[in-house]
Amino acid sequence: MMDQKITINYQRFQHWKELGESEVKLVEKAYEICGTAYAPYSKFHVGAAVLLSNGEIVTGSNQENIAYPSGLCAERVALFYVGANYPDETVTTICVVAKGDLLPLDKILSPCGGCRQVMLETEMRQKTPYKVILVSQNGVTLIFNSAEELLPLAFGVEA
Ligand code: THU
Repeated sequence: MMDQKITINYQRFQHWKELGESEVKLVEKAYEICGTAYAPYSKFHVGAAVLLSNGEIVTGSNQENIAYPSGLCAERVALFYVGANYPDETVTTICVVAKGDLLPLDKILSPCGGCRQVMLETEMRQKTPYKVILVSQNGVTLIFNSAEELLPLAFGVEA
């Protein structure tokens, strides 16, 4: 038996307004698309904005359904749209934000397990890591340089 340790690398900012210009724009786009969330059941509105290597930004919001598991998270709405419509583009950055009482204001919107798996596979498909920007409702921001940081020991990924 050997004890092992996994380290997750990320940067923390007190507020997303401290980020660079293109990242600030991405956060703003993520907040903008939050407004299209269809979340009558959770009342929790999530927005995801994806920056592509061609400079375009693709956005998505969570879409719920009365048959609960049929709904989809904002991250997957955006990333699957990218897969369908921009199969040859590389994802450079994804930013995820949320509005609602489900989380305390200082709690980072941290993607669910299913979204992490999809975020990771996007990275594997394009063979290039991309940045993940997670924001809390009070503005605190974490930046990860790869989706892999968020899913150590992932299914389907060699250790
Ligand atoms: N949700 C997302 O859109 N992304 C996440 O990473 C976590 C949760 C959505 C799913 C559901 O519509 C609502 O937030 C409450 O869980």
